[in-house]
Amino acid sequence: MKRKNLLAAVLIAAISAGVWAQNRTEYLLEKNWKFIRTDQPDQMNAAYDDSKWQSVTVPHDWAINGPFSINNDQQKIAITQDGQKEAMEHAGRTGGLPFVGVGWYRNTGNLPAYQAGKRVTVLFDGAMANSQVFINGRKVGEWPYGYNSFHFDVTDFLNRDKTPNVLAVRLENRPEQSRWYPGAGLYRNVHVIITDDVHIPVWGTYVTTPVVRQDFAKVNIRTRVEGNNTPNVNYRLSTDIVNPFGVIVAKNEKQLTKFDENEFSQDLIVENPRLWSTTEPTLYKAMSKLYANDRLVDEYSTTFGIRTIEIKPNDGFYLNGTKTVFQGVCNHHDLGPLGTAVNDAAIRRQVRIMKDMGVNAIRTSHNMPAPELVRACDEMGMMIMAESFDEWKIPKVGNGYNLFWDKWAEKDVVNLVHHYRNNPSVVMWCVGNEVPEQGDAANGPKRNRFLRDICHREDPTRPVTNGMDNSNAVINNNFAAVLDVPGFNYRPHLYTENYKKLPQQIILGSETASTVSSRGVYKFPVERKAMAQYDDHQSSSYDVEHCSWSNLPEDDFIQHEDLPYAIGEFVWTGFDYLGEPTPYYTNWPSHSSLFGIVDLAGIPKDRYYLYRSHWNKNEETLHILPHWNWKGREGQVTPVFVYTNYPSAELFINGVSQGKRTKDLSIKRDGSDTDEARKNFDRQKRYRLMWMDTKYQPGTVKVVAYDENGKAVAEKVMKTAGQPYRIVLEADRTSITADGKDISFVNVKIVDKEGNFCPTEEREISFNVKGAGIFKAVANGDPASLESFQAPKMKLFSGQLTALVQSLEKGGSITLEATAKGVKDGKITIEAK
Ligand code: GAL
Repeated sequence: MKRKNLLAAVLIAAISAGVWAQNRTEYLLEKNWKFIRTDQPDQMNAAYDDSKWQSVTVPHDWAINGPFSINNDQQKIAITQDGQKEAMEHAGRTGGLPFVGVGWYRNTGNLPAYQAGKRVTVLFDGAMANSQVFINGRKVGEWPYGYNSFHFDVTDFLNRDKTPNVLAVRLENRPEQSRWYPGAGLYRNVHVIITDDVHIPVWGTYVTTPVVRQDFAKVNIRTRVEGNNTPNVNYRLSTDIVNPFGVIVAKNEKQLTKFDENEFSQDLIVENPRLWSTTEPTLYKAMSKLYANDRLVDEYSTTFGIRTIEIKPNDGFYLNGTKTVFQGVCNHHDLGPLGTAVNDAAIRRQVRIMKDMGVNAIRTSHNMPAPELVRACDEMGMMIMAESFDEWKIPKVGNGYNLFWDKWAEKDVVNLVHHYRNNPSVVMWCVGNEVPEQGDAANGPKRNRFLRDICHREDPTRPVTNGMDNSNAVINNNFAAVLDVPGFNYRPHLYTENYKKLPQQIILGSETASTVSSRGVYKFPVERKAMAQYDDHQSSSYDVEHCSWSNLPEDDFIQHEDLPYAIGEFVWTGFDYLGEPTPYYTNWPSHSSLFGIVDLAGIPKDRYYLYRSHWNKNEETLHILPHWNWKGREGQVTPVFVYTNYPSAELFINGVSQGKRTKDLSIKRDGSDTDEARKNFDRQKRYRLMWMDTKYQPGTVKVVAYDENGKAVAEKVMKTAGQPYRIVLEADRTSITADGKDISFVNVKIVDKEGNFCPTEEREISFNVKGAGIFKAVANGDPASLESFQAPKMKLFSGQLTALVQSLEKGGSITLEATAKGVKDGKITIEAK
């Protein structure tokens, strides 16, 4: 047993015996859960026999194992936001997975017995959805919104003798509760927190940095205290600020007076502070000790960063005094083949991939993020726009948030803000997304103001935005005017008009592009198209297709470069997600999105390199598309695009120059949005290098890139692949933690004898894992594939897929073997430590 697990076991044993050494004990309830999909009221009772239930670990997504079916949440409705007038079948809208219905979880013997003088709190990072929590048969509480974190003080429900406590959770997902795959179950972590009667509550600190200068920062820490009801006791809080090297850099001690209303407020000075930024994400820790008459009663640690944010009208967003344009992506919470079950390795991989592309911000569309994502962004230097709702009181879907709005909206926003207001990565709150209230002049602006005010009350340091798509209405009815940052979804051609009427004098592209593509799939002729559908249920990876309401990446790039008041964008989306297979609405088996810059398997599409060439100018990008295996297209026009950060390049096919192309910087925002200009890809010419008339002949495509002085500085070669020869495996990490949770993501492809990638391979690959790990999941990024994510085999899609290998709780080597008919096996070893 690993040391950590041994400690956990000892801890639980000690807790069950009612012995606690520390003032504060925190642990996760990950193991020994029982799960079932039946719904009997007596399943809450302590005496209920759950021995036949499935044993699961949490985080757990009960629906991700499928099977996919056209009958799962088949929504027969008109999606009015997308311009649909009549109800039609939307089978894959929410992913085609069996998430609807009831599920019960039970956990026995892992909560402590009641002990006088101690409080026990259970904190759920998120539970999908409509949770009802019971302990020993008695209802503790409920929380309907599946994305939010919530907690209950369960002390008074605990057994006073040694009888094991039973925690039971009933969850229910309704049909038509979502516009995408929401996941199901205890998909985020469950924490147990044991404190003294006198303690600092959950999210009980609030750290701000009211003064940040080069030579010092003033740090204000407000710390709440609960349970301090005994008269004549002297409460004292001693706080140290610890820098990233573990050195104490500031200290403060404070007595609580009756005028403090149970909240300490401390000011500390950090000299020569290191600021949190996207390039140097420095984190400090506030370590607080709470004393009651000199008895230490609680110890609480808060991670925070020192940084400034500012919005300047007609100018932009400033991070630490440096103008920073949002190079953002919107992401859903699902993790592709893992579903919504939170996994730190998968989340960090996503952030890493986005950072490499040059992304500096993630919008958690359209709901509260998992704490693991916020922590990763704090540590890795990624800003977050933290969102709350896709729907308010007026429904978008029948069983959506509209059912909870009246009773829960304020509570939900308060929890979001309290949870994440100390995280430096969070730079903005977003209170809604395309809510129908935009067009309701009587209620919309008031509801918008109501939510904005809650954010301001709970956290005056961050601006509030809202993703609005009905610009005509919101500009004229004050809806937009109440926001700190007016966020517009799509329609960038209206930015200049909107700007004239906006008091804020800035514009955020809160949601942009919705360009659609399938990795490695190319359609001919290469034409700009809206809502194009094909028999294979894919979209073209030439990056020329979009939705009827949306556009191509360059239509947004050009705004934020040419308009001084446009402060950046959040592209829909960074990663593909389950559900919303637009433009395929009624076209089962389409069931996952085509919007992603990266596919559902985490493999970059061509578009990744277009964004990277524009956003990550520090690294070389030189990417050629399409692939060059077009048997049957010999002699036919097959355009070649190059995405590069260099200004120009020359293309050669089988040694023959196809000419040099240079990015056309004379193309400006204005005048480049006519039908003619769109058809001619005028804006694309400013950002992409395109050879529209090249003809396919098998062989070699070579691109030579030139710098500003016309000097050849880089080249790239792509060859038509010959016969498929062997499987190649490449892991994102070859050393992982032996904690039973860490995952190595292995890219799988087939190459020919010379090592050239075979881009049209669809061969089925089978997997076998040996040693200190398990085969966890597999995905190929095909939005219409009904293959199981869990079976250890899958067909390649456009020549690639990703296999996920998970560690066990023991160190050692893990070997992944991949086999397929007609080609040599692949093998890779990963070390678990
Ligand atoms: C937006 C919406 C997103 C997604 C997107 C697809 O209108 O905010 O959630 O549906 O359209 O283009």
